[in-house]
Amino acid sequence: MFITLILFTCFVSLITVYFLTLKSRYSYFRVRSIPGPSPTFFFGHFRTIWSTKFYSRQLQEWTRKFGSIYGLFEGTRPLYIVSDVDFLQQVFVHQFSLFSSHRVSFLYQLSKSVHLISAGPSRWRQQRHAINPAFSAAKLKLMAPLIDQCIESLMKKLFKMNNENKEFNIYELYQRLTMDVICHCAFGIDTDMQNDVDNDLMTKAAVIFKQDIERMPLSKLSYLMPWSTSLLAQFAHSQIALFHCLHKIAPTIFPDLVEKIPRLWLISKVQEVIDVRTIDTSTTKRVDLLQTMLDAAATRHEDNTDDKKLSNDEIKGNVFLFMVAGFDTTSTMLGYCTYVLATQPDIQKKLQAEVDDQHEKELDYDTVTKMEYMELFLREVHRMYPPSVATITRVCEQTTTVCGHTIEKGSIIQPDIFTIHYNSDLWGPEDPNQFIPERHSTERHPLALLAFGVGPRSCIGMRFALMEIKMTLAHILRHYTVLPGEHLQEGFQLNEAFVIQPNAINIKLNKR
Ligand code: HEM
Repeated sequence: MFITLILFTCFVSLITVYFLTLKSRYSYFRVRSIPGPSPTFFFGHFRTIWSTKFYSRQLQEWTRKFGSIYGLFEGTRPLYIVSDVDFLQQVFVHQFSLFSSHRVSFLYQLSKSVHLISAGPSRWRQQRHAINPAFSAAKLKLMAPLIDQCIESLMKKLFKMNNENKEFNIYELYQRLTMDVICHCAFGIDTDMQNDVDNDLMTKAAVIFKQDIERMPLSKLSYLMPWSTSLLAQFAHSQIALFHCLHKIAPTIFPDLVEKIPRLWLISKVQEVIDVRTIDTSTTKRVDLLQTMLDAAATRHEDNTDDKKLSNDEIKGNVFLFMVAGFDTTSTMLGYCTYVLATQPDIQKKLQAEVDDQHEKELDYDTVTKMEYMELFLREVHRMYPPSVATITRVCEQTTTVCGHTIEKGSIIQPDIFTIHYNSDLWGPEDPNQFIPERHSTERHPLALLAFGVGPRSCIGMRFALMEIKMTLAHILRHYTVLPGEHLQEGFQLNEAFVIQPNAINIKLNKR
């Protein structure tokens, strides 16, 4: 009885201390005189964040209320939402060594395959060093013919659509195109998604991209109780291991998880491709992202250490990441570009004139990168429609001072991108709500355009994506004029998950 009483008292004391500690965390921003909406006990601001359909609009609304630097809590973890570009320049560029990680979902910890997004500072540096050459101008030029093959397939489809003389959703075709490009260039397999509409890769990828992993129950729990993350990871691992065993014992009752879970299926396919490449070295080397990574994996560095090589798991993780990071973002950008073409005929004419100036020249890497108006056009599309907002975060690795504010280790910094992209002080004197490509001819603040992130940890695939987008648009504009479909505005309803994307881009084409 006495022991039970002692145990009970200990338990109650522990719970009380835990709750008092939680409560005291909520004074973090108050003692630093940083404004922000009031947090809810235990959840912080998650209840609002999880219930809002449009996270970035919610941030803009709070920015209007609380100013250019304000505080939120993810559970009890402080999150600075910032639209002060000088502050962000300190974090993303000048003090990068103290802010060199992204905030990553707990689900990444489930996988052995650490990749660029999930890697901590030192492993990230080594991976980025090994993978950067895959995206050099020389390698991109060599990969351009692979992209060209995929665009050719799209053009055949557009020819057919144009002959039918009906409006159609080009966004769907762009998704097939960008998946094809990633398969050709990162997976090293020559798919034809435009015609092979039931392709397994496409259907499984579509499922993966529909899932918002940040809102899965285990993810939410790990954000609310960060101390429980490794416990949750172990729990999830043991569930997977148990399921594997049960499947081996009774395959008819327990399905194979690899077949059931698209993420696991995709990773197993990547391994198959790697195996083929590494076992069959007799054929001519293909120039693609996978081969560059395999070469990096085989290279021992001057200091003779293996930790600078890429491991098999790292290659697998990064191929998977390229697919996740490069498929939906690029097709969505193409969708936005086409929306602008369909609604701004004068701008389309200027782009067509620039493409026509190239006469019958091949629309390859060199030709499209020299198109100046195309460059301004794309920057303006990125400014008005940044597709990937929530990924741009930095975690503070060591307590420091930024623009007079003490930022504690473990806090997260996130830019409010829409507020920055529509700020007339940064983008005036023309109205930032107007689509004006020429505004990019004026030099702007280096942190004013954040669609691809900024600093050493910005998007590694930016040049690859821009090449793909420019080549695709140039091919389309050479042969067609884009016209709005009757249901263009109806389809242009935006949804926000991993990427902010429209439902559809309904257009018609006019043969030139
Ligand atoms: C229009 C297309 C794209 C957009 C808008 C985009 C946007 C972004 C953004 C905002 C980030 C975070 C940057 C930061 O935190 O500063 C990022 C990171 C990344 N992106 Fe992209 N991306 C695109 C295409 C691609 C493509 C095609 C690939 C690969 C083939 C790719 C691979 C990556 C990788 C690996 C990272 C993580 C970089 C690191 O942590 O070192 N992205 N991207």
